Amino acid sequence: MKGLEYLYLDHAATTPMRETAFEAFKDAEEVAFANSSGGHELSRRAKNLLEESRDFIAGIFGAAPKEITFTSGGTEADNWIIKSPFLNNAPISSELVTTQIEHEAVLGSAEWIKEKGFEVKFIGVNGDGVVDVNEFVESCNKETLVASLMYANNETGVIQPISEILKKVKDVNPEILFHSDVVQAVASEKLDFHKLGIDSAAISGHKIGGPKGIGVMFLSSKYKLPNYFHGGKQELERRAGTVNVSGVAGLAAALKEQQETLSEEKMLLERERKIFEDTLKEKLQIKIVGENINRLSHISNIQFKDINSETLMVALDLKGLGVSRGSACASGAQKPSHVLKAMNVHDDDINSHLRFSFGWSTNDGDGLNAANIVLSTVESIS
Ligand SMILES: Cc1ncc(COP(=O)(O)O)c(C=O)c1O
Repeated sequence: MKGLEYLYLDHAATTPMRETAFEAFKDAEEVAFANSSGGHELSRRAKNLLEESRDFIAGIFGAAPKEITFTSGGTEADNWIIKSPFLNNAPISSELVTTQIEHEAVLGSAEWIKEKGFEVKFIGVNGDGVVDVNEFVESCNKETLVASLMYANNETGVIQPISEILKKVKDVNPEILFHSDVVQAVASEKLDFHKLGIDSAAISGHKIGGPKGIGVMFLSSKYKLPNYFHGGKQELERRAGTVNVSGVAGLAAALKEQQETLSEEKMLLERERKIFEDTLKEKLQIKIVGENINRLSHISNIQFKDINSETLMVALDLKGLGVSRGSACASGAQKPSHVLKAMNVHDDDINSHLRFSFGWSTNDGDGLNAANIVLSTVESIS
């Protein structure tokens, strides 16, 4: 990474900004800095850039421009979609179905709904971290207002059987708003929201080489949700507040580069991850979460037998390798991972997992370098 003598394998927490995104962000601040709601030439420039970016981003995900609302990130989009249907004079018998392995943005919203007196069902997963299809579908009924299932998990990378669940859920009740947090999936998968059949999605700019503080709420035009922020009439009258046009321009540029290079990037990520995992497997007793099932190309969650992950993470940091123990929030709060808990990983073993996440700034050779750093570090702390 430019100017850094540090091997960064924490892309699932956040990514550095792509050069093209940074340039687009800077350009927008220079030439389209005006308030996109104003009535003069500079405002029109900002508004044009905003709408061109909306059209472009919608096209990438097979959506209509009016189905795209810009938010401050994935957390806001998740909160909006999960909570607001319950704010709209929903009968108290209304229900939410989600899973035990969602990101905190969904889980926190679900807990909030539960506190308001609505029924919330948190569906479990198997030992690989895959959601129980039958339990999910059987938990949906005529009272279910929202069903929320992440496309892939941010701690393990494990991809969920979303198409199968979605189809069966809609057979139970076609009115259910089916939401998917695709924040992590977008980093290494090509997604078309309408083909996939989801009704709403949350996207975050900083996971794909875009700026922080910008995201997208996709909502199918079949649905209309109450506004979450009140005030001005920005964002198609849905979200009040001066629009972060430079963030939007940066996000559009990041997505453009990412989509153009997705297949090469995916190949590189898979190759480097394989070299990394194979090298570790030869010398250490490790278990790779979801090794033999469908998982995102950029995440490797590894259990190191009899090694404390906190100790290992700190020692790796001192040797110039940045990784994490799970999601950024969970590790910051030093809580045991709720995802591994849901997978029934034994308490003693939960604290021996580390997440290595590759990304767009990963280079040839990073997998082997990282593995060598891990091997020498494990030797030094054992
Ligand atoms: C799966 C998932 N959802 C939501 C978020 C939150 O996104 P943001 O940081 O843009 O609020 C994250 C980021 O950690 C994530 O990994």
